[in-house]
Amino acid sequence: MIVVENLTDLRRELDAIRAQGKTIAFVPTMGNLHEGHLKLIRRARESADFVVSSIFINPTQFGENEDIGAYPKTLEADKKHLIADGCGLLYLPNNDIMYPKPDLTRVEVSKITTLHCGSSRPGHFVGVATVVLKLFNQVQPNAAVFGLKDFQQFTVIKTMVENLFLPIEIIGVDTGRADDGLAHSSRNNYLTAEEREIAPALYDTLQQAAQACQQRDKSHALITREAKEALHEAGFTPDYFNISRQSDLEPATEEDKHLVILAAAFLGKARLIDNITVEIS
Ligand code: PAJ
Repeated sequence: MIVVENLTDLRRELDAIRAQGKTIAFVPTMGNLHEGHLKLIRRARESADFVVSSIFINPTQFGENEDIGAYPKTLEADKKHLIADGCGLLYLPNNDIMYPKPDLTRVEVSKITTLHCGSSRPGHFVGVATVVLKLFNQVQPNAAVFGLKDFQQFTVIKTMVENLFLPIEIIGVDTGRADDGLAHSSRNNYLTAEEREIAPALYDTLQQAAQACQQRDKSHALITREAKEALHEAGFTPDYFNISRQSDLEPATEEDKHLVILAAAFLGKARLIDNITVEIS
């Protein structure tokens, strides 16, 4: 695996790949790679001739009260995983490369970024859209792969790509989970052994709510209230639990057919997020 740390080297290496007529699939990450990330790498390999991944802990998507310094860094282990799963090039830019001075440009996708995680983490999706567009312009991939675990992030990036006519295919990959249903996440590192036992209740609650939506005998308001109560009882502090439309992430009506239930909840020091899509027949 080629490892590059600056834009000149990145462009030189990728020009050589393209000169061989190869297509490129890109998987941006913040590192501390787990099985969820590696699903994306394997999907990227199926979608193109050459896989590029990046590790960059992006400061503009962290709030002032969020400890970016505490974000886990496991570069040597990450490299081993990437090599094993067939990544061809790893890009490791730094803040000076990603945010050259004067740093005056931001990318804002409106409306969908004000909901869910956007209302709990103001500015978060401006940081995400900005860094992803910068990375896309640097790597210029044919396709880019993102996890549906971050359903709202996926929707924001897809919208940005469509609105700005970027010639990149955006591929979504289903959430990778542990056997007990807990979605793989770097945040799981913050859980104590006791909290790790409780954590699968988040996905259990989403599944129960999904089933209740399909049965259509309770209102969305009641399903939401019961889900939040269940999370409280399990030991979570719910942040949000929203039954939404897949298309625009706005609150679903009782008539909507393509739903996504999005949830975020604190468990000890960790803020866990998860979601489930629901098709009403
Ligand atoms: P990060 O949290 O490192 O996630 C990188 C990619 O892995 C994202 O597309 C995310 O949705 C996906 N992912 C994380 N956990 C997953 C799981 N359990 N199953 C499937 N996919 C999973 O998301 C980011 O980084 C950043 O916001 C980034 C897009 C890199 C911009 O800085």
